[in-house]
Amino acid sequence: MHILFKFLIPLITLYYSSQVTPSIASSSSSFSPSILTQGSSILVENKDYLVSPNGTFTAGFHKIGQNAYYFAIWFSIPMLDGNYTLVWMANRDEPVNGKRSTFSLSREGNLVLTDAGNTIWKSTNIRSNSPVELQLLDSGNLVLTTLENKSSYLWQSFSFPTDTLLPNQPFTKDTVLISSRSSTNLSSGFYKMYFENDNVIKLLYSSNEITSVYWPLPYLVSWEAERTTYNNSKSALLDSKGQFQSTDDLSFRTIDYGDQALQRRLTLDVDGNIRVYSLKNRRWSVSWQAVSLPCSIHGVCGPNSLCTYNSKSERRCACPHGYKSKNNSDVSFGCEPIHDLSGHHENFEFIKLPYVEFYGFDSDYIENATFKECKKACLTNSNCKAFQFAFYNEENHFKCYVKTLLFNGYYKGTPFTTYLKLPKSDVLSYDQDVANESGLTCSSSIIELKRTYEKKRENGPLKFTLWFSIILGVIEVTSFVFFYYVTKQPSTTTTQSYLAIATGFKRFTYAEIVKASNKFREEIGRGGGGIVYKGILPDKRVVAIKRLHEAIQGEAEFLTEMSTIGRINHKNLIETYGYCAEGKHRILVYEYMENGSLAGNLGGNQLDWQNMFEIAVGVAKGLAYLHEECLEWVLHCDVKPQNILLDANYNPKVADFGLSKLFHQGVAENSIFSRIRGTRGYMAPEWVFNLPITSKVDVYSFGMVVLEMITGRSPTYDQPRDENERLEQKRLVSWVREKVHEAGESLTDAQIMEIRNPMIRGGYEKEHMNNLLIVALQCVEEDKDARPTMSEVVKMIMHLVAVDD
Ligand SMILES: *[C@@H]1O[C@H](CO)[C@@H](O)[C@H](O)[C@H]1NC(C)=O
Ligand SMILES: *[C@@H]1O[C@H](CO)[C@@H](O)[C@H](O)[C@H]1NC(C)=O
Ligand SMILES: *[C@@H]1O[C@H](CO)[C@@H](O)[C@H](O)[C@H]1NC(C)=O
Ligand SMILES: *[C@@H]1O[C@H](CO)[C@@H](O)[C@H](O)[C@H]1NC(C)=O
Ligand SMILES: *[C@@H]1O[C@H](CO)[C@@H](O)[C@H](O)[C@H]1NC(C)=O
Ligand SMILES: *[C@@H]1O[C@H](CO)[C@@H](O)[C@H](O)[C@H]1NC(C)=O
Ligand SMILES: *[C@@H]1O[C@H](CO)[C@@H](O)[C@H](O)[C@H]1NC(C)=O
Ligand SMILES: *[C@@H]1O[C@H](CO)[C@@H](O)[C@H](O)[C@H]1NC(C)=O
Repeated sequence: MHILFKFLIPLITLYYSSQVTPSIASSSSSFSPSILTQGSSILVENKDYLVSPNGTFTAGFHKIGQNAYYFAIWFSIPMLDGNYTLVWMANRDEPVNGKRSTFSLSREGNLVLTDAGNTIWKSTNIRSNSPVELQLLDSGNLVLTTLENKSSYLWQSFSFPTDTLLPNQPFTKDTVLISSRSSTNLSSGFYKMYFENDNVIKLLYSSNEITSVYWPLPYLVSWEAERTTYNNSKSALLDSKGQFQSTDDLSFRTIDYGDQALQRRLTLDVDGNIRVYSLKNRRWSVSWQAVSLPCSIHGVCGPNSLCTYNSKSERRCACPHGYKSKNNSDVSFGCEPIHDLSGHHENFEFIKLPYVEFYGFDSDYIENATFKECKKACLTNSNCKAFQFAFYNEENHFKCYVKTLLFNGYYKGTPFTTYLKLPKSDVLSYDQDVANESGLTCSSSIIELKRTYEKKRENGPLKFTLWFSIILGVIEVTSFVFFYYVTKQPSTTTTQSYLAIATGFKRFTYAEIVKASNKFREEIGRGGGGIVYKGILPDKRVVAIKRLHEAIQGEAEFLTEMSTIGRINHKNLIETYGYCAEGKHRILVYEYMENGSLAGNLGGNQLDWQNMFEIAVGVAKGLAYLHEECLEWVLHCDVKPQNILLDANYNPKVADFGLSKLFHQGVAENSIFSRIRGTRGYMAPEWVFNLPITSKVDVYSFGMVVLEMITGRSPTYDQPRDENERLEQKRLVSWVREKVHEAGESLTDAQIMEIRNPMIRGGYEKEHMNNLLIVALQCVEEDKDARPTMSEVVKMIMHLVAVDD
């Protein structure tokens, strides 16, 4: 019935000499590789393809599994991993067999896909009196035209997109994009992009249980989301330069805008985000995306679960305390309560999930309620799963939402707080490890070595408040715990025990240090209790050698600290190669950082905003590790741009940690921090007002550093250290705070221009800037309990660098 001509591999083509009689095809003279003629077919067994004239696209049967095929269009070039990128599928929800499946252009002029004679898919009924043909164009459009007029399309694949739009493929009121089910199952999934009746392009999550729009943000009216409802033409287009323009005023340019040679595609991804990808070196890289906070996409984690980010900024789902996973192999099933939540209200209590919001399903909303009233409203409602209670600054009052279903939960930041209803037994057993925050697994390279002063910490075990460790009712009062290091001389310490700390962490002799530093010839920095020199080890490693001031005495204390430092291993903390403790010499050997300190880079124009965001996240991660992960509590106490070093790729590493105790020998035992530490400008108010010192001092300093990074304004002043200086420091904070407050939900471009540091190059996403500012402002709250912990900070700003690859 059909005749195939194999041409250059993989170009195979079909040609029919006559539309009427299925006879022998003519040979090469009328050869046409991208055309299927009337009455002819493509067979699955023959691996026949249509290829667009310049070879960019291929159409044909594409294998997607054991004996399962789609009729699809894909980019002819395979990606580096050998896979092809499909841009259209005729039968995504119903794959056909690898045998006896055909795709034909019928005599009547219809496209028909059959599997063993059964019609699986058909183009809409076309009645054409004149002869027709099917052609795959270089744009990726598969078009059915009459022979007379090839620019009039009877049918085209561009009108029926699956999850992808190609450049110049119109998106209209009649088209929708539907995401794939998963990265391996390309059938129709849960996310949909479409023109709503109000003329605005929206993203919708739709499953059996819930249906909700999440983009643009559902609580914004269209003009707040910078969309218009007035133009009912409902059409949008991504052009070949990389600009997307829609009649609802949604308009954006990809980061590589202007380059017309690039292949691009706009895809509604499995995770519910729309991304534009550009093809570079046979790899797709993201050049634009709609949603920068992956957790704000609805539906990802199923009911009753919490969306968080793992250490690679990837989204992960977790069950809150008292809940368990419904299906361990598929997070979209969500979580279910371990114990029955019906029953008498006396049996229930609440745990507090700070910064967590669950979107929607409010069975009750009480304005100006007190906390007690809100709690009662949930307790007495047997369907209530949780309530959300918070003070809203803008409206100047409290809001109380009673929730009967928990969907779309994630860490949203202030003022959101969710109180989860649980049986009393569950509340009592509640520890910090909600949701199995497995981010806290320690790097295996840390050698288990008992810290020698551990036994000496008699003053109360340290229970630092992690994420949601505040149990309501039980610890409503306060839950931070004082902590002090008691660094009394460990009695059994021997020098040898430190040599075994870790491979690569070494005790140097003074002679080795003198040689490596070439007799301390090249000074590269000062501060933090010593002078830093450049050096080269015998194995050619370039190092920074820090010679501590001689005031530091006591070899044992020094060695104790070295044992801590030697165990610290994090990509955002400077690596210590070793130390020297000989006679009165106390020397540390660090990795050398090519780009010096952040302080040295803020004034120059080396950094762009992407660097800035990455530096902020990196520093936050490093500090979070020091405070909470793996190790015991290590306070930095001197976070400032001078102590943030940048490697050759401008990745940040925090330096000068773990030494804070060394400078406090000889002070009263229980007030190890009785002397003010830190650097003017970055110091938390606790130091000045002589309040207890906790890890929140580092959070404060971090916030100041971020504000300085964004604004380019330094908070340090050459004034005496007194209340006036505090006022100056406050001035930067309140200046920024005012701007953000004026702006309400989100800063405008003009407002950002006013705040941001003009020395920093490149573009930024407004939303990123906005979020980073808000997080930084939370960090510099005067009241330390109002500041988030470092790991909360990491969670809140993680998405800032989640873009790209
Ligand atoms: C490539 O395709 C294979 C088989 O379909 C699949 O297992 C693999 O995960 C794909 N690779 C990527 C990066 O998607
Ligand atoms: C093929 O044609 C398309 C559309 O005109 C163009 O974008 C693409 O660059 C061309 N590809 C090659 C390899 O010439
Ligand atoms: C072919 O079709 C196009 C689009 O429908 C139309 O604009 C054009 O006039 C037609 N040309 C001829 C020769 O009929
Ligand atoms: C893909 O997902 C659909 C919808 O859940 C399901 O019916 C189908 O069996 C899945 N296909 C494969 C190959 O897993
Ligand atoms: C709607 O948008 C289209 C395309 O941008 C434009 O041509 C048309 O004039 C607009 N209509 C109105 C009423 O603004
Ligand atoms: C869990 O999910 C997997 C994958 O979707 C499915 O095959 C399995 O049947 C599910 N198990 C239960 C108990 O629902
Ligand atoms: C709630 O309290 C605030 C502050 O007391 C007040 O301004 C506001 O009008 C109150 N709202 C309602 C609905 O009672
Ligand atoms: C959570 O942690 C507990 C104990 O560490 C473990 O038994 C359980 O399987 C974990 N649950 C999940 C969902 O990972």
